[in-house]
Amino acid sequence: MGAAERELLLDAFDSNWIAPLGEHVDAFEAECSAYLGAKDAAALSSGTAAIHLAFILLGIGHGDRVYAPSFTFTASVNPILYVGATPVLIDSEAETWGMDPELLAEELEKDAREGTLPKAVMVVHIYGQASKLEEIALLCAKYGVVLIEDAAEALGTFHSGKHVGTTGRIGLFSFNGNKIITTSGGGLLVSDDADLVAKARHIGSQARISGAGYEHDALGYNYRLSNLLAAVGRGQMQHIEDRVAARRANFEDYRNRLNQVEGLSFLEEPEGDRGTRWLSVVNIDPKVFGATPEQIRLKLEEGDIESRPLWMPMHMQPLFRNARMVGGEVCEALYRKGLCLPSGSSLKTEDRERVMEAVEACAAPGIRS
Ligand SMILES: Cc1ncc(COP(=O)(O)O)c(C=O)c1O
Repeated sequence: MGAAERELLLDAFDSNWIAPLGEHVDAFEAECSAYLGAKDAAALSSGTAAIHLAFILLGIGHGDRVYAPSFTFTASVNPILYVGATPVLIDSEAETWGMDPELLAEELEKDAREGTLPKAVMVVHIYGQASKLEEIALLCAKYGVVLIEDAAEALGTFHSGKHVGTTGRIGLFSFNGNKIITTSGGGLLVSDDADLVAKARHIGSQARISGAGYEHDALGYNYRLSNLLAAVGRGQMQHIEDRVAARRANFEDYRNRLNQVEGLSFLEEPEGDRGTRWLSVVNIDPKVFGATPEQIRLKLEEGDIESRPLWMPMHMQPLFRNARMVGGEVCEALYRKGLCLPSGSSLKTEDRERVMEAVEACAAPGIRS
């Protein structure tokens, strides 16, 4: 948090507009839309709320199927269950770690033959890296299936010169405390269909009809962002490009040095993309490096350095045990071999050096190059 956030927050506070509406909410929505190049955006209480609303707005419910990647955070797929729909989980591909378009194509082709096309495909741009969005969007267009983009981890990520989250019918972002910019908790639903965004605001405000009274024309939710938090978000948005640069610098430093170590590798950025490297992930081949990700994590912890395992794929979770899984080897391997290194936007060169020294010290003797 910086001076701009403080000033805007105090302005909201002093105005006494502390409800989930007010001028900072309107301005935050306009500023996010302008940054993303989207027609409209609704500021919400969380990214999870945005996904839930997306499904409601698209009429997804009982008996419908939604295709989603297995390799994601549980908040991506839980809302499929909230609306009573059925998730079908798809493996990742190795170049972006996102949903594998080839597996998706096979499934959609089979569905089209059997008349069982899903109601939606949801891609997730994981760790700030764009999925193979163009290929997936073409498939969705070919089969007439709606595309949703979970860009919760990817504010600032470009694919083919366009912000991720703005290609699908609905895109969504998270401003949770761990994200590249934050409102402490918050989310955003974006679409080029302004009516859909207006409906998101309405359903997210208890579906209350405007006016003095309390009349509700649908099942609504309390999902709007407070004016106080929107003010914080406006201050944060002023720094988005600096934060992206800082995250990318973390990654570059880690990759330049640790890529030299046998058994360690990193996800390369596909040409034409600009990922945010929200989290810097190192892949470890324990047989070559001489230590497993968990051994490294524990060693770093001893030095007061926090690192984290990768997302455990959804098909490995008890909650999604019965979900259909298409493939699985790629994301299982990512999960087994990856470790998220410290990735904060305020890390300094010396912090990263300390991290890298600690990682290198875990290599089996004689293996370090
Ligand atoms: C991929 C993904 N989707 C959805 C969410 C949910 O966002 P929120 O925490 O704002 O509800 C998150 C993160 O928290 C996420 O990482």
